[in-house]
Amino acid sequence: MAILSVHGLDVTMGVQAILHGVTLEVAEQAVVSVIGSNGVGKTTLMRAISGIYRCAAGTITFRGAPIANLPSHRIVHLGLTQAPEGRMIFSNMTVRENLVLGAGTLPAAEFAGQLAYVLSLFPALADRLRQKAGSLSGGEQQMLCIGRALMPKPKLLLLDEPSLGLAPLIVKLIFDLIQRIRAEGTAILLVEQNAKAALKIADYGYVMEGGRIILQGPGAELAADDRVMSAYLGGG
Ligand SMILES: Nc1ncnc2c1ncn2[C@@H]1O[C@H](COP(=O)(O)OP(=O)(O)OP(=O)(O)O)[C@@H](O)[C@H]1O
Ligand SMILES: [Mg+2]
Repeated sequence: MAILSVHGLDVTMGVQAILHGVTLEVAEQAVVSVIGSNGVGKTTLMRAISGIYRCAAGTITFRGAPIANLPSHRIVHLGLTQAPEGRMIFSNMTVRENLVLGAGTLPAAEFAGQLAYVLSLFPALADRLRQKAGSLSGGEQQMLCIGRALMPKPKLLLLDEPSLGLAPLIVKLIFDLIQRIRAEGTAILLVEQNAKAALKIADYGYVMEGGRIILQGPGAELAADDRVMSAYLGGG
């Protein structure tokens, strides 16, 4: 059963077509990775699914409901959140205030429990709740970004380049956490230039080039594919 189905998605910026007929699926509780080089349209895809960019054509179905071109807050309310590229945390607010904002319309009675869950995933944040978010390290800011997106109890979490600019040890920590989040019931659509790490944890993967999906398959199969190896994994 797919929790998310994107079919024939076109996104256009001004007169320029960015995405061309993108079709992909995320199964319930799966990790699905989209890999591709700079500027191929990965972030555009995430923003279109989240309702930030307009879809010019195609359909997006989330838990059986059409969501293409719905306002973002409605999509969040249906259970789909995003940890965006570049993190976009609110630097001048405290860690706690960022998490409160992320919680959005989560019922007050569920707030404390969900905050405790997020802090159990990211214990480093628990000691820094009153600290300004801008004073955190890069890795902690990425944890806050993911934690904020988890606060409204999403059924599907979009992660756009969570490993970008982080030290290898922190990258490993983040990828381990992605698997834990999935194990606890949240499906994940992961966009990465770090193809090796992204395919390693993916049940299924897609390769994008020039705004199109050019290859797809189970994560392990894609990671072993000669074309993927030579283009994205530095092998041959
Ligand atoms: N708001 C925008 N206005 C105009 N063009 C845009 C806009 N956003 C993205 N683009 C263009 O769309 C294309 C795809 O960009 P996008 O950011 O989706 O790629 P990406 O795969 O996420 O790249 P990266 O790996 O660098 O994050 C690029 O050519 C980019 O210049
Ligand atoms: Mg991007």
